Amino acid sequence: MYLLGIETSCDESSVAIVDAGKNLLAEVTASQEEVHQKFGGIVPELASRKHLESLLPAMKVCFEKADVSFADISAIAVTSRPGLIGSLMVGVMAAKTLGYALEVPVIPVNHLQAHLAAIELTTDVEFPLLGLIVSGGHTNLYIIDDNWKSFTLIGRTRDDAAGEAFDKGARLLDLGYPGGPAISRLAEKGNAKAVDFPRALPQKTVLDFSFSGLKTSLLYHLKKLPHKPEGKQLADICASYQEALVDALVRKTKQAAEQHKIKTVVVAGGVAANARLREKMQTGLGKNRRLLVPPIQHCTDNAAMVACLGTIKQQTEKAAVIEGRDIFKIAAKSVSEPAMC
Ligand code: KG4
Ligand code: ZN
Repeated sequence: MYLLGIETSCDESSVAIVDAGKNLLAEVTASQEEVHQKFGGIVPELASRKHLESLLPAMKVCFEKADVSFADISAIAVTSRPGLIGSLMVGVMAAKTLGYALEVPVIPVNHLQAHLAAIELTTDVEFPLLGLIVSGGHTNLYIIDDNWKSFTLIGRTRDDAAGEAFDKGARLLDLGYPGGPAISRLAEKGNAKAVDFPRALPQKTVLDFSFSGLKTSLLYHLKKLPHKPEGKQLADICASYQEALVDALVRKTKQAAEQHKIKTVVVAGGVAANARLREKMQTGLGKNRRLLVPPIQHCTDNAAMVACLGTIKQQTEKAAVIEGRDIFKIAAKSVSEPAMC
């Protein structure tokens, strides 16, 4: 029997099928990048409408690729929070309708927890873990224990998320959306020491992040230039901006690992796709700590991570499973969460 995962919390309509051993049979993700690019960020109303168009065709292809039929599905896991409310509702309603029709349980999955648990698609882990989630809407440090049941928040951004800082920086530089991949591509050819951007909250005891000062510092740096940066100058700015972001993420993660004496660190979420972050995090944590980062396609939003955590929950927390016929429960839970991607 297989588990179907559905992810629609932001701008990817994604569907995946895994087996009981968390092996991925198929995954199909319809990206909305084209829809939102011209606006320089996600337009929530357009995102939910696009999910309506894309989700069921993606599901059809996913079943074909996995060579699995509806009758083989024993449970459905769906991202129920956090996310854009209209986008979440499309996925949750699809899951509940299918759950109702197939008479299988629907498992609500927290998107941030799923990002971190994506590591279980490829690697067995030992608890406790230190988890850093770096996405477009969140930058949080957690101590994770008890087979993904316990998440203790020990640090978070006080303003912008790391992905948001990449996206806002890219907007100031006219690099389009999403900003992270654009900045990191240009940064490859730049000098990371060219501009001395600030690293906020240097205090050792503080495990929080702050990126809004960095963004303002970029704004003032650009205002001082006689013309829009391009070529080597643009690459240098991107490399320096990325370096400041990465340094802050590495420093706080290392401090947290030291303070809480944790040997294994998982970094996940869209920004974990950043090559410089992966490289500096490994060096920063040192040889005695194990760094785990999901493969790039499972760092950004995807349904495989939802199916993976859904499988773990199904096997370990039977009580949390909401029956497919209980049509109102997940919707009520989703609505009570802040609409953050
Ligand atoms: O986790 P995710 O796909 O969606 C959310 O749940 O937010 O993360 C999206 C974020 C965006 O801000 C995007 O700019 C950033 O991840 N991102 C990157 C890279 N790839 C995606 N940031 C830095 N470097 C990358 N290579
Ligand atoms: Zn995400």
